[in-house]
Amino acid sequence: MGGGGGLWELCRNAAAVPSPAQRGRVRVGASGARGLDDPLARIVGAVRAATGVDFSHYTPATLRRRIERRMRAAGLTTMDGYAALLDRDHGEAAGLCKEMLFAVTRFFRDEAAFRVLAGRAVEGLMAGREGPGAIRVWVCGCATGEEAYSIAILFAEARERLGRDDGVTILATDIDRRALELASLGAYSDAIAEEVSPERLARFFVRQGERYTVAPDIRRTVDFAPHDVTRDPPLTGIALVSCRNLLIHRDPPERRGILERFRQALRPDGFLFLGTGETPDGLEPDFHLLEPRATLLRRSPPPPPSS
Ligand SMILES: C[S@@+](CC[C@H](N)C(=O)[O-])C[C@H]1O[C@@H](n2cnc3c(N)ncnc32)[C@H](O)[C@@H]1O
Repeated sequence: MGGGGGLWELCRNAAAVPSPAQRGRVRVGASGARGLDDPLARIVGAVRAATGVDFSHYTPATLRRRIERRMRAAGLTTMDGYAALLDRDHGEAAGLCKEMLFAVTRFFRDEAAFRVLAGRAVEGLMAGREGPGAIRVWVCGCATGEEAYSIAILFAEARERLGRDDGVTILATDIDRRALELASLGAYSDAIAEEVSPERLARFFVRQGERYTVAPDIRRTVDFAPHDVTRDPPLTGIALVSCRNLLIHRDPPERRGILERFRQALRPDGFLFLGTGETPDGLEPDFHLLEPRATLLRRSPPPPPSS
């Protein structure tokens, strides 16, 4: 999707990291501690078997909420009844998977946080750029693309302010291929006028009837590709990882596993941009929080060599 070859080259070159599965996970799963009698475990197992997507490390509260929505739609009142429905109707597993991955997203979601990102990370990275293509950004859990394009816009604005030429590649990944297809099109309804300022709409989008399409110079900056952050090797040599509102529904061990992947992906002085309120537990002492409100962290540079 886009020029994704570079992304996959990065993936292939990345060191494989044992996933939580390989380290012996399964808290809720077909073979997990809760066992086959637990309807929640049966449901998670059925979705995994039908779609390959494993929700076993989602918090039980999140799982229940999403399952209950599907139960109501099917006129069912018990988890057992819903587990039995999944056994009968294989299409339902895909429906539940879609419900679980359902991505609420928007351009510049939490504007204040994006202002902090622009001022404290993007501007500095652009000013200190070492050569063409030198800045690599990974947007993990990019959904339909709004976050990746928002960041591309921040880099374009910094580039214009500093009088620099191109020099940023944004690698945007998600587990949801349908979302990636939409992201790749870069075409959005005119409702985005509520999220994007008139100046940015005029400069970075092309109006086509009822839709706004991302301008070619912004679209060119972003590659989209499928990637499961809990299983696939992390990317490497990344200056900025943005992963917003993906950690929030996970249990602490899985959150720590994902954060560890980001630590491995980032350059020694790289930035990590999480969703507002998402806790970066487990990253100390390698990272320090630059701005708590925006959950913007920086990897600490290595200590100077001793003389
Ligand atoms: C709530 S949306 C957040 C979208 C965007 N980051 C934002 O903050 O507006 C979470 C996204 O993470 C994706 N996701 C869930 N599990 C994932 C995984 N294991 N690997 C990669 N992406 C995942 C979902 O498909 C969804 O698009």
